[in-house]
Amino acid sequence: MSGRKSSATVLVVDDSALTREVISRNLIAASFTALTASNVEEAISFLGEQQVDLIITDLKMPGPSGLELVRYVKENIPETEVIMITGYPTIEGAVTAVKIGAEEYLTKPFTDEELLNAVRTALKKQKNRKTASGYGGKSRPHFKGLVGESDSMRVLFGRIEKAARADATVLISGESGTGKELVARAIHYASCRATAPFVPVNCSGIPEGLLESSLFGYVKGAFTGAAETRAGFFQSAEGGTIFLDEIGETPLSMQVKLLRFLQEKEINMVGSSRIHKVKLRIVAATNRNLEILVQKGLFREDLFFRLNIVSIIVPPLRERGDDIILLARYFAEKYANESGTQIPEFTDGTISAFLRYHWPGNVRELENIIHRIVVMEEGGKIDTRHLPPVMRTAIPHNNSTMKTLQEMEQEHIRHTLEICEGNKTHAAEILGIDRKTLREKLKKMELSG
Ligand SMILES: Nc1ncnc2c1ncn2[C@@H]1O[C@H](COP(=O)(O)OP(=O)(O)OP(=O)(O)O)[C@@H](O)[C@H]1O
Ligand SMILES: [Mg+2]
Repeated sequence: MSGRKSSATVLVVDDSALTREVISRNLIAASFTALTASNVEEAISFLGEQQVDLIITDLKMPGPSGLELVRYVKENIPETEVIMITGYPTIEGAVTAVKIGAEEYLTKPFTDEELLNAVRTALKKQKNRKTASGYGGKSRPHFKGLVGESDSMRVLFGRIEKAARADATVLISGESGTGKELVARAIHYASCRATAPFVPVNCSGIPEGLLESSLFGYVKGAFTGAAETRAGFFQSAEGGTIFLDEIGETPLSMQVKLLRFLQEKEINMVGSSRIHKVKLRIVAATNRNLEILVQKGLFREDLFFRLNIVSIIVPPLRERGDDIILLARYFAEKYANESGTQIPEFTDGTISAFLRYHWPGNVRELENIIHRIVVMEEGGKIDTRHLPPVMRTAIPHNNSTMKTLQEMEQEHIRHTLEICEGNKTHAAEILGIDRKTLREKLKKMELSG
């Protein structure tokens, strides 16, 4: 359904016909163009056909939730604004919605005025952003949220498209911070499963004892504390994609169960002998070399082959040439808009320091550096004084052979901690080691320095 013509087009997504009617009537009265959809699937198919400036979506709806829609929009048409509405306000829901990019959060019941204020604020922000950058997000070279136009990224985009069509299991590998999760999402959203859920699971973040019940669910009474039957991640991804991140960290006991799933496409909830068929696609990712883990007996070879049907390798940032600059500008714009400051520019010195640096933490490291500078410096030019010391002195790293391996390592640890503003968990993540190892190394550094 569509209302009369005006300046901005707003898509209202709600399973309640009454809510759709009330909101769109208000919008039309305020001379906006209103479109309506009763679920996320319908909304996504609308978005494929026509330009929408703003989406107002309910959070809880049968099928995919409003959060799935926010994710879809942010990854595929980031220039479109989203306002989330809900009758069940939860702190977590609000936090997640804002974190993944909803502009506003409205709790039912809201007045007509509150609604229109939120709509105007969101559209104004969008307009400011477009004017500030001189162009809308649309012309930025990106593929489903992945910024890049280097040859290595073009090859990657081609592989993503092929993988999306194939519907086979995919294994994504690449160094930490290269964008493996973004690639997994891009595959999901480019596939025929786009309207079903994308469920990310961090295999290294769940204690071994809870992994099976978290993935496959459990029935009431299965173990002490199982007061009710609960679905696992596999059931919640029904029809969609489950993203098994850091698959290399999965304990061997769980690897057997994953292998069984890949062979039979069936799951057993913990404590039940009943078998459920689940239709979904598995996309797994790792920053470790699984072949080496296989050789060491830490990863099952049969599981490796089952996962590695389609293999996608995400290139490290240092191999992406001018994409480094493209990404730096992209993040500068993103964080300047977020904090309402002027978009900073980079001096030639900064640009060559960026191109020279070896980016061990890849895109995440670049994003963190830019974020910090934008927050601290508020606009103007970014020159090499603003860069972390290690980058400023970054003599191309093949020239730093006068240093011992230990000196290089310590320098790199200090630099990473600086980027992460002292956050050890984050630093350990970028360095690809666990927190305990990082603590031990820091202790040694204190002793030696
Ligand atoms: N090509 C890209 N364009 C825009 N943003 C990107 C790109 N690649 C990565 N990012 C951003 O960099 C950050 C790290 O990406 P992501 O979490 O996908 O990396 P990862 O490979 O999964 O890292 P890890 O191995 O540490 O889990 C995210 O904030 C992501 O949005
Ligand atoms: Mg990741």
